[in-house]
Amino acid sequence: MIVGVLNQKGGVGKTTIAVNLASCYSQAGLRVLLVDADPQASALAWSGVREAEPAFVVVGMAKATLHRELPALAKGYDVVVIDGPPRVNELARAAILASDMVLIPVQPSPYDVWAAAETVQLIREARIYRENLRAGFVINRKITNTAIGRDFAAALDQFPDTPALDAPLVQRVIYAESAARGLSVLEAAPRSEASRELKRLAALIFPYPERQAA
Ligand SMILES: Nc1ncnc2c1ncn2[C@@H]1O[C@H](COP(=O)(O)OP(=O)(O)O)[C@@H](O)[C@H]1O
Ligand SMILES: [Mg+2]
Repeated sequence: MIVGVLNQKGGVGKTTIAVNLASCYSQAGLRVLLVDADPQASALAWSGVREAEPAFVVVGMAKATLHRELPALAKGYDVVVIDGPPRVNELARAAILASDMVLIPVQPSPYDVWAAAETVQLIREARIYRENLRAGFVINRKITNTAIGRDFAAALDQFPDTPALDAPLVQRVIYAESAARGLSVLEAAPRSEASRELKRLAALIFPYPERQAA
């Protein structure tokens, strides 16, 4: 299973979601590869500041040939998560073509809904070759019980081929705090609401058996 996290807009949470999903699957005992397809190499920077043992492999592959090279590499893993590049270009196209499912993180703002149209269009183009390509919005940095949240959910309905996944991530400081230490939220705050939300998202994307506590 290859999950791409894509949105040409920067700062929406691609790297945050990619790193934390990789951690969810790795904690569940799956063999996980995190592919950094962003020339800015944020996921690699995250693993670089980490003092703890690596929990999963992180490789840099910001290449337009990603979709051709990744299948061979992916064979050794149960789940591959791609941290996508900003901007619509050949790198984003390659990352989408390499994916079985594309996640589009969006923050509850009209700017994010407008910007998402470009990524949705890339997915539509990819479906010409990959009929079964799955896609979904991940609502990120949600602020609970606000009117903007409800209007925003309605605005996303203009993309009927890309449903909003029923697993939003709320705005919380633990995301930046854990990243600064090269940790996932699950490692830094295993019993937090944020961890619970992330596991719910991970299980929606790729149902995996929860590993029994030792
Ligand atoms: N749910 C969240 N709550 C709080 N901060 C978040 C959340 N998701 C992402 N962030 C923060 O937003 C910033 C941008 O996130 P990042 O994952 O780097 O976005 P992208 O990879 O799309 O550019 C980072 O500082 C990150 O810590
Ligand atoms: Mg990023």
